[in-house]
Amino acid sequence: FPVEDIRNFSIIAHVDHGKSTLADRLLELTGTIDKTQKNKQVLDKLQVERERGITVKAQTASLFYSFGGKQYLLNLIDTPGHVDFSYEVSRSLSACQGVLLVVDANEGIQAQTVANFFLAFEAQLSVIPVINKIDLKNADPERVGKQIEKVFDIPSEECIKISAKLGTNIDSVLQAVIERIPPPKVHRENPLKALVFDSTFDQYRGVIANIALFDGVVSKGDKIVSAHTKKTYEVNEVGILNPNEQPTHKLYAGQVGFLIAGMKDVTEAQIGDTLYLHNHPVEPLPGFKSAKPMVFAGVYPIDQSEYNNLKSAIEKLTLNDSSVTVHRDSSLALGAGWSICHWLWRLPWPHAVLGIQIWGPYAQTVSTIPSQPFSQALKIHFCELGFLGLLHMEVFNQRLEQEYNASVILTTPTVPYKAVLSSAKLIKEYKEKEITIINPAQFPDKSKVTEYLEPVVLGTVITPTEYTGKIMALCQARRAIQKNMTFIDENRVMLKYLFPLNEIVVDFYDSLKSLSSGYASFDYEDAGYQTAELIKMDILLNGNIVEELVTVVHREKAYTVGKGICERLKDSLPRQLFEIAIQAAVGSKVIARETYGGDITRKMKLLKRQSEGKKKLRKVGNIEIPKDAFIKVLKTQ
Ligand code: GTP
Repeated sequence: FPVEDIRNFSIIAHVDHGKSTLADRLLELTGTIDKTQKNKQVLDKLQVERERGITVKAQTASLFYSFGGKQYLLNLIDTPGHVDFSYEVSRSLSACQGVLLVVDANEGIQAQTVANFFLAFEAQLSVIPVINKIDLKNADPERVGKQIEKVFDIPSEECIKISAKLGTNIDSVLQAVIERIPPPKVHRENPLKALVFDSTFDQYRGVIANIALFDGVVSKGDKIVSAHTKKTYEVNEVGILNPNEQPTHKLYAGQVGFLIAGMKDVTEAQIGDTLYLHNHPVEPLPGFKSAKPMVFAGVYPIDQSEYNNLKSAIEKLTLNDSSVTVHRDSSLALGAGWSICHWLWRLPWPHAVLGIQIWGPYAQTVSTIPSQPFSQALKIHFCELGFLGLLHMEVFNQRLEQEYNASVILTTPTVPYKAVLSSAKLIKEYKEKEITIINPAQFPDKSKVTEYLEPVVLGTVITPTEYTGKIMALCQARRAIQKNMTFIDENRVMLKYLFPLNEIVVDFYDSLKSLSSGYASFDYEDAGYQTAELIKMDILLNGNIVEELVTVVHREKAYTVGKGICERLKDSLPRQLFEIAIQAAVGSKVIARETYGGDITRKMKLLKRQSEGKKKLRKVGNIEIPKDAFIKVLKTQ
């Protein structure tokens, strides 16, 4: 294919606006898939995607289309729509020259429509607005066209009105791709320069890299080098995605396709890497910013005998989803015996989890500490997982279960706080002026720091105007600061707020949806850090600190959060023989308290049950707490 007959494009949209349905129609119309087969959402290959009806991982397909007596090669790169996956969106866009911006004719512009538009705009891509679902009873394509003109400054006449479901006007979409998106600017005569924009791992064939060729040609048998690792590989297979892999002899500049070259894991085919021919080094492409985890959580198996299974499942899955970061907290786990001991006991906490096996010398140290069931604890592996957002975390969990058959419990997510250290001595000790804290137990005391910082995000809410008041109150309660308010038409308003990330991580989205009967949409982008009055809060049982429940809160929220934990802990404890005090404390000051009474009549029964369930109990002072109590207390936090 001559370069001028190639178009590389993506479809971007708010969740559920019909991106995958449109992709299916494009595939059918170009004969890439058979219309008669039940081919609903061919590009959504993962089970979790089919079940949840969302796209998680970007997929690519090459389409052949005849127009004006000429055949064109159209490379479609599908992208996920949800805020948590915008990393996948931006890297797909780097292989494109244009996008179809799909907007629902009834719902109009939503938060992720805006976010995705700006990703494409910043990448200087041609944007073709497509108004979908014109078959719906309440469709109002004229109104949506005006919104597009107002918010994106694209003349409403440029909008293509379609029904992806019924297949109405799909031809015009393909024609617009040919007419309005420029062919890639590439040089075939130059030496090979290929961008790795995605990679997947196949058990039998190793790494399959999705590549976009900027210059040159690549053939089976070529020797190629990764600019990132400088490792050399022989190309075993190249081809196009149609949408399944279809080997070809060569791939030429301007094309998008796959490459297999004996890379063993995805770290060898880093997203954003440049591949070139051995002995013909080229200036590497700019690459991508790596995905920044915003949410941290712990994962541990429901059944302890499954550690090894879970460990290998996580390893495999992270091979496939490079946006999940796995931290192995070697400093803590391999530190002194007591640290290990704490960590072993800190199982339900967000950060204490899978990863490092505690071997030999440490096992010795540990086992000398009395009164704890270490034989069991020693099998535990630790690490924490970082995610781009909550949905990303849930999807990861679901994939672990469905694709790797690993049952896990995910703990309450937390965000990375920072502390600026106050003395040269401390800076030397920590080797940094500013430390990041993802484990509340390590939260440094106020005497050691000049200030604490918390991550913030710029959030966009789009809502029908009737819910504005309620939503503004919700944002305020979440310590958010209003930055902007724009009417996108007479019934819809776009609000911009700066949110502390920890205020939205757990349940903001759910609250927003229920306040607005499901009509408001939300998206956010990273906005750095801000100073915050953070404090470490301890939870005590009869005066003894429960390590697992140490938490970092904003000073203003300490009472509410502390009281909530005390109440939930009270509800989850088994009946006790004596009265105990459950307290939330900041330093030596108790800020919330619950008392929990004894019940002598049940003494015999209880003693029996406790001796049976001994292993599952965590002893704090003389009070025993069932392990699942931690999860309950943390989960609803
Ligand atoms: P994500 O992959 O999660 O971002 O969603 P998506 O944008 O790919 O949306 P999808 O194609 O899955 O469509 C969402 C829902 O809208 C599905 O139930 C589709 O059947 C429906 N839908 C898509 N296009 C149309 C259309 O033109 N008309 C009508 N009435 N429904 C449509």
